[in-house]
Formats: sequence, structure tokens, C-alpha cells
Amino acid sequence: MEFFIDTAIVEEIKEAESWGILDGVTTNPTKIAQAGRPFLEVVKEICQVINGPVSAEAVSLDAEGMVKEARELSRISKNIVVKIPLIREGIKAIKVLSKEGIKTNATIGFSPLQALLAAKVGATYFSPFIGRLDNVGHIGMDVVRQIRTIYKNYGFKTKIIVSAVRHPIHVLEAALAGADVATMTFEIMRMLVEHPMTDIGLKKFLQDWEKVPK
Ligand code: E4P
Repeated sequence: MEFFIDTAIVEEIKEAESWGILDGVTTNPTKIAQAGRPFLEVVKEICQVINGPVSAEAVSLDAEGMVKEARELSRISKNIVVKIPLIREGIKAIKVLSKEGIKTNATIGFSPLQALLAAKVGATYFSPFIGRLDNVGHIGMDVVRQIRTIYKNYGFKTKIIVSAVRHPIHVLEAALAGADVATMTFEIMRMLVEHPMTDIGLKKFLQDWEKVPK
């Protein structure tokens, strides 16, 4: 299972990369705005600090505009994956881009049928926003389980990125559901690498170690 960090803040990416568990980065217009830097400048820098896939989102609302943006973004680096929203124009754009070999992340996804459509048109990734489904009273992870079954039934290669992850249990459930990737904030990734019981256990071992005769 791959771990992506959901941020456009380069310092967070560098820190998570140093832990040895980071496989890629996802951004979106909100994350770029939070970083407070020009879009292309920050995306280029992210591609320099990490080897894995870096998702950058197209903001056009028509297929032609999305394809144009995607071609430009894909020239930045071989790492670039272009996020395309799953509106009707987005589906059309993904079809064109997949034929050109440009990697896509079908985004703002909420249903297994959207995942089926994304796979049919050749999306590299599909991103179900499970935390946002939980927020409105649906069990987001059920969608991930259904997508896994659909992709298995038909041998689709599209990878599932469990997105809008809110806590470590979402990561656990994503792994149990067989998701390919979970993308999470720096804070959630930090929670995964720090376990208070391990800290307490280590403290006791080191205290006892002091008692060993020298
Ligand atoms: C995924 O690629 C998205 O950037 C992200 O997970 C959105 O989630 P949010 O609900 O935390 O904004």
C-alpha cells in the first residue's frame, strides 16, 4: 500500500520523505492556496523533492481546457499526475489524456459508479473523498470496498486513492479494503509514525537499562 501526503507545503513533504514511508504527493486548489505560493512554482519544487507521483489539478471546466492544462502540466516532470474532476467534461478529457499517455487522477469522487466510469476511460487513479462522505452520514469506506470489487471483477488497472482521510483508522480501513493508496495530511502521517505506547515502553526499557551493572 502506498502513502501519499495531501499538501502543497514543501517543508511537510521533505519531513515526511525523511521518514522513509512517503510514495507520492496530492495537491488540489485549496492546498495550493494554503501554501500561499504560485501554482507552477510550487508544483515544480515538489517534483524536485520527491521521486513519486505528484497530483496537480486542472481548473478548466471544459474538456478542451482540461486537456490543454494537462499537457502543459505533464511537461513539468514525468512525476506529474493531472487531477481531473469527475464532471462530464472531465470524463471526456480523461479519455483523451489516457490515449496520449498522460497520467490522470479522477478526483472529487464519491460513488462506485464514478469509479467505474473513470476506469472505463483509462484514469490512472480514482480518488474517492471518503471523509466528506462520512461527514454527510454515508460510510465512505463502503464505497472503497465496492470499487475494489468492481475493479477486480473486470481487471481494471486504475488505482484507488483513499482521499479526505480524517484519522489513522481511515488508513487502517483503507488497507483492509485493499486500497492501493491512502493520501493524508502531514498531521495524520505523523500520528502513524508515533505510538504513545511504544514511547512509554521505550522509556521504561531505558530506565531499566540504567540499572544494569556497568
Ligand atoms: C485528495 O487528493 C484531496 O486533495 C483531499 O484528500 C481532499 O480532502 P479534504 O476533504 O481534506 O479537503
